[in-house]
Amino acid sequence: MSELTEGYLGITSSGRKSKVPAKLDYVQSITGGFLALFMWGHMLLVSSILVSNDFMYSVTKTLEGNFIINGGSPLLVSTFAFIIFSIFIVHAAMGLRKMPANFKQYQVLRAHAKSLRHDDTNLWLIQAFTGFVMLFLGSVHLYIMMTNSSDIGPYSSADRVWSEWMWPLYILLLLAVEFHGTIGLYRLSVKWGWFDGKNPRSTRIRLKRLKWILTVFFLSLGIASLAAYIKIGIEHADKVGEKYIPTSLTKGIL
Ligand code: HEM
Repeated sequence: MSELTEGYLGITSSGRKSKVPAKLDYVQSITGGFLALFMWGHMLLVSSILVSNDFMYSVTKTLEGNFIINGGSPLLVSTFAFIIFSIFIVHAAMGLRKMPANFKQYQVLRAHAKSLRHDDTNLWLIQAFTGFVMLFLGSVHLYIMMTNSSDIGPYSSADRVWSEWMWPLYILLLLAVEFHGTIGLYRLSVKWGWFDGKNPRSTRIRLKRLKWILTVFFLSLGIASLAAYIKIGIEHADKVGEKYIPTSLTKGIL
């Protein structure tokens, strides 16, 4: 057995089996499952802009807790973003354990994947690549959300997307997230045999179909929402920094 395999399986220097890798696998599954489900909720919230500016504004204010704190507090969003960022980092650290550590290991991995021609092995490679991409792009987004949570809203978000040049990052992050998340949930259910039933092979085919449907759905929703933020951002480009005032208040003013 090579040193690499021993390390991965958790064989200690005294030749005994360690339970640490299995525990870390658990941590990876739990944090990954949580983040994938969080992203579905996140995409639905972000897509509130497709309903109307007022609706996105009221979603933002609800997340700031305006039903308990007068006017809402962006600090709540910052705290939540900090928690999500911490889980994101733990999950990434668990995933990095399995990445090839040098070019030689990468070559062996590619050769295996080519010779196996196994669909699930290819899915693993896509997941490793999109995970690596997300580590950088996701960190930028989460840091901005954590430190600028008072700048979330129909105009502030649209200004960030268009005038502050976040749209190229969001396009790449969106692609990475939607592939990574649904492949991750598929792999989780296969790994832990959640829906195996009487015929695991046919279940796997159905799960793969469901995975594609979910990827296409959330990718389309994300692209449509991003297009909406870009459109508002372009129209609002000469008034960057101006905050959105909901229609109910402007009516009151007039
Ligand atoms: C609590 C944490 C988070 C908050 C508060 C948050 C908030 C937001 C907001 C308000 C937007 C709209 C654009 C903007 O204002 O800049 C957005 C867009 C986006 N976020 Fe997050 N986000 C969080 C976590 C994440 C994570 C963990 C990821 C993935 C790693 C992610 C990926 C994206 C993507 C891809 C978009 C563009 C969406 C689109 O295409 O419509 N976000 N996020």
